[in-house]
Amino acid sequence: MNKSIAVLVGSLRKESYNLKVANTLVKLAPASLKLNIIQIGDLPLYNEDIDTATPPASYARFRNDIAASQGVIFVTPEYNRTTPAVIKNAIDVGSRPYGKSVWSKKPAAVISVSQGAIGGFGANHHLRQSLVFLDMPTLQQPEAYVGSVAQSFDEKGEINEKTKAFLKQFIDAYAAWFEKVK
Ligand code: FNR
Repeated sequence: MNKSIAVLVGSLRKESYNLKVANTLVKLAPASLKLNIIQIGDLPLYNEDIDTATPPASYARFRNDIAASQGVIFVTPEYNRTTPAVIKNAIDVGSRPYGKSVWSKKPAAVISVSQGAIGGFGANHHLRQSLVFLDMPTLQQPEAYVGSVAQSFDEKGEINEKTKAFLKQFIDAYAAWFEKVK
């Protein structure tokens, strides 16, 4: 049976390059994986005061979505050399209540996508710091930094073959590694 993999996209804008890359990964994934983009833009900023016995509906929905997934792929821009707040907030929501983290042991991968030349390296590696603490084994190779991303798309918004080939290599490597660590 194919595995359900949650995809979290760290940009909320409609024309997001990260979203375009995530949508391309959904299409390129091998038959063993079913990638699902999980909404994170509706999660209120994490606050223990609202995370009561009846948490916000979006918290409950998000936790269920991740709990029902066997792995997680983070597709993230870089904001000020780190991960955007929207991704960190989703991580925090999923990590609580204490002792009930939905992240634990789920095989993860990180791909950073940036208009800058260094491909969101800072965001990619800061995110990995949280994944260590959350006990998520994380794909190490190939590293995935998509820099100067605007050049990967033509005027019709289609991704170019070179970038598509790299994304195919990345998702196939994740699928093969997933079988070993799951
Ligand atoms: C950016 N951007 C950016 N780029 C980068 O390579 N390193 C950085 O530190 C930052 N910092 C940053 C901060 C903020 C607040 C914004 C809004 C943007 C630019 C970023 O790479 C660009 O906006 C991407 O297009 C964002 O990804 P999406 O929205 O296209 O997916």
